[in-house]
Amino acid sequence: MKVSIEEDLSKHHTFGISTKAKKFLEAKTEQELLFALSDPIKKKIVIGGGSNIVFIQDYDGLVIKNALQGKSIVRSFKHTKYVTAKGGENWHQFVLWCIKKKLGGIENLALIPGTVGAAPIQNIGAYGVELKDVFVKLKALEIKTGKIKTFWKKDCDFAYRNSFFKKEGKGQFVITEVTFKLNKKPHILNTSYGSILMQLQKEEIQKPTIEDVSKAVIAIRSKKLPDPEKIGNCGSFFKNPIISKRAFKELFKSYPNVPHYPARESKIKLAAAWLIDQCGWKGKKIGNVGCYKHQALVIINHGQATGIELQKLVKNIKSSVHSKFNINLEEEVNIV
Ligand code: EPU
Repeated sequence: MKVSIEEDLSKHHTFGISTKAKKFLEAKTEQELLFALSDPIKKKIVIGGGSNIVFIQDYDGLVIKNALQGKSIVRSFKHTKYVTAKGGENWHQFVLWCIKKKLGGIENLALIPGTVGAAPIQNIGAYGVELKDVFVKLKALEIKTGKIKTFWKKDCDFAYRNSFFKKEGKGQFVITEVTFKLNKKPHILNTSYGSILMQLQKEEIQKPTIEDVSKAVIAIRSKKLPDPEKIGNCGSFFKNPIISKRAFKELFKSYPNVPHYPARESKIKLAAAWLIDQCGWKGKKIGNVGCYKHQALVIINHGQATGIELQKLVKNIKSSVHSKFNINLEEEVNIV
């Protein structure tokens, strides 16, 4: 097991701020994970691919990387197959593996950075599909007891970029494996999202396969979102705000072109990217941080960003959106 002291965290979180962890352990098996969690250091945090977490300062505790590996088809039915993947598997590689096995359902979630174990925590979603749509169950190690518990869909309380593991269960479990229900041929495709349709038309594809859809998603994402290998970022930095119908009516009076989508409980979801863009942040650079030129919702590290710079930018974006639209943006990313 990899153990190190004063580990440089810049390579363990995709935003890439140069910070250090007092101690760092990489767990490749459940046993190693248990061993790491029993470390006498009280302050601990478990990370996956580091794409939804930003370390803005040195971490005075133990950082445990969930690196559990393995994926397999566990059951086969007439129209579906159940697939289980370990928590440390790279999400995008898992998507590609499923496509290769001709299993559909997660092709719209191609190229999302991070790991399989992190995916249910914020119920990852893109282009009309959310993880909850294909989710069956997960196994998680309870930190307090060291016991493995099974969570079915109803136990996870999935919502837009949210779950039990971001609320009551926060910091209490490590997701060791996730089981998905995927479709055999003929696949049920979800190509209703405008930009996917446009991309498929551009490629002159009339009868798309799951591979075509994944390629379309990869093309769209690569155009709009920066590659974290090249430009430090953690995807959408804020959640798309969900507001009441009444608040929306007020907003609509002043901004009739505001992009909006129906949300749960007859609420309205707005596009944080649009709100931030309207405040003039798109492409703006302040010191070593800024908003990406093709997607205002993505904050990027221009090189040597510091936690203080990032915090200042986040505060300024939130306050300008609040003063222009009277809307409070909430971070989607975990700031540590
Ligand atoms: N827009 C702007 N300015 C911009 C970017 C977008 O005005 O700079 C407008 C667009 O014209 C559109 C609206 O904002 O009307 C929404 O933009 P987009 O379709 O790009 O999607 P998004 O709501 O910004 C969400 C997810 C993404 C996911 C895409 C596609 C959240 C917080 N973000 O972005 O997820 O890839 O939809 O489904 O829900 C992530 O979570 O890290 C992530 C990238």
